Amino acid sequence: MIKRTTVNAFAKRKREGEKIVMVTAYDAPTAAAAADAGIDILLVGDSLAPTVLGYRNTLPVTMEQMLHHAAAVRRGAPGSFVVFDLPFMSYQESLEKALHNAGRALKEADCDAVKLEGGAEQAALVEALVGAGIPVMGHVGLLPQRVQTAGGYRIQGRTPETAERILNDAKALEQAGAFAVVLECIPVELGKSVTEALEIPTVGIGSGSDCSGQVQVMNDLIGLFETTPKHAKRYADVGKIVREALENYVSEVKNGVFPDEDHSFR
Ligand code: KIV
Repeated sequence: MIKRTTVNAFAKRKREGEKIVMVTAYDAPTAAAAADAGIDILLVGDSLAPTVLGYRNTLPVTMEQMLHHAAAVRRGAPGSFVVFDLPFMSYQESLEKALHNAGRALKEADCDAVKLEGGAEQAALVEALVGAGIPVMGHVGLLPQRVQTAGGYRIQGRTPETAERILNDAKALEQAGAFAVVLECIPVELGKSVTEALEIPTVGIGSGSDCSGQVQVMNDLIGLFETTPKHAKRYADVGKIVREALENYVSEVKNGVFPDEDHSFR
């Protein structure tokens, strides 16, 4: 039986000043690589939609698609702490539907927790989920599932009023029982003050180095796309390596170089 980390470990990490490292994962081989690299939390993000499935934003991805990929992540990383990102409209419609869908993430894909977007307005839902035994990671600041009402992807919390709202949202999530909260694209100073105001850990993306941990989209880190967002660092150029490998394959097949004797049977 593989023993997995539980939510309590992350609050302890914060108390002891040890950073938490989280990355998105969408399939078995990259989940296995992330686990081998010592990543603490794998997030099956709804960024699955734009990064892997080719959609324009995160909105179209369905529960079924998320479950399909989350199960693959679990198979690739059986010992990792895996968070399932509840997709758009899987938890906004009703408490019953949210409980049902969050339960599916744990029952059908063997995930350890769910993540959902929003602040104080989600407190009752977070309380119900936690009450039902489902650990919840909150998400405040830039909320990609609200891109249509927000009018685009913008840094949040730049005015005193919006900064205070984000701080209060994070506190409301903690109060409701969330075990951690993602802070997406807020100024460094606000990332620091939210982190200091909470006992639970904050996991930042574009929110400065004072957060209790960091999360990034796998594809940005490994350089699968042409461009990298400002908050992400490109640690490799995997897209270029893949293109070059495939160009070499095309050329060798066309020129009769591949397959050679070493790759043939007699
Ligand atoms: O889906 C995702 O990748 C996320 C991260 C940006 C935190 O929610």
